[in-house]
Amino acid sequence: MGIARAAELIRQGELVAFPTETVYGLGADALNPLAVAKIFELKERPSFDPLIVHIADIALVRELAQLGELENYFLLLSRKFWPGPLTIVLPKKNIIPDIVTAGLPTVAIRMPDNEIALELIRQSDCPIAAPSANKFGCLSPTTAGHVRKQFPALEILDGGPAKVGIESTVIALQADGFVILRQGIITKEELETVLPASLSPVENNGLASPGLLKAHYSPSKPLYFLGQHTADKSRAGLLTLRGENADGYKKTEILSPRGDLREAAANLFGALHRLEEAPDIDCILAEPIPETGVGPAIMDKLRKANYRWKN
Ligand code: TXA
Ligand code: MG
Repeated sequence: MGIARAAELIRQGELVAFPTETVYGLGADALNPLAVAKIFELKERPSFDPLIVHIADIALVRELAQLGELENYFLLLSRKFWPGPLTIVLPKKNIIPDIVTAGLPTVAIRMPDNEIALELIRQSDCPIAAPSANKFGCLSPTTAGHVRKQFPALEILDGGPAKVGIESTVIALQADGFVILRQGIITKEELETVLPASLSPVENNGLASPGLLKAHYSPSKPLYFLGQHTADKSRAGLLTLRGENADGYKKTEILSPRGDLREAAANLFGALHRLEEAPDIDCILAEPIPETGVGPAIMDKLRKANYRWKN
């Protein structure tokens, strides 16, 4: 399927999976509540979890969100990081249907850094609401094949493997500071270099962030951290940064032989999908990743995959 056909489907209120630089999205016309409802239905996503609205033109933000006193901060961020893996939560305007934001007074917006995604949005002539194109709680897709595995009947625009590989950093902008709602490849330190010192990162004290569940991103097999569980190595898969101490495992997935954490992030979900699919493996053992740079974002995914398996 090509972009023109995908855009036609979006305009008709249907769903299309499309590539972004982070993970594949499951898209619908963000201004059509019936189309958006199909996303929740297909994903089996709880209706309390709001969606990200994807745009191709910064000017559209003024139609979707109430910038007000946040305007300068928003401009600093969008000029530096868009198109790119940063989602900004802003007070919403009425044009955004409640189903998109799960009834919250805010809307999450991002401009993806992927030409196919941007062209799809332009040709659809509407903002596109899209969560990651996976069943709720399961592994995120970084290739069209991952999407097909979970949704065989879905129309998919294939743009090759996602280059970032983990979901966008999500931040809420407020007049007195910003809150990181989800960690990603753009770190707190990078955000701080762009924003004035007067706008500091604030702790999330009760701000609604329904996506921050403790269990998430789970492969269909148990995932443990090394040392947490005694497994028969001949029936276990090892997920490791550089490939050290891999002797005896049935299968080993190395995230980055040179220890580059961005490369590790790009390979993370592909490695987890392969371990999930591999026969003769009962569980996945994950080596903890150093928590510098994008390390915390990777560890956040692994901790969520581990949550229901730790004691
Ligand atoms: O990289 C990405 O962000 C990918 C690609 C497809 O763009 N999308 C993605 O969507 O990861 P999803 O639905 O899997 O995650 C969206 C996150 C959730 O944690 C959700 O709770 C949060 O964004 N979110 C969305 N709208 C929000 C809002 N108004 N306030 C607070 N959090 C919000
Ligand atoms: Mg997701």
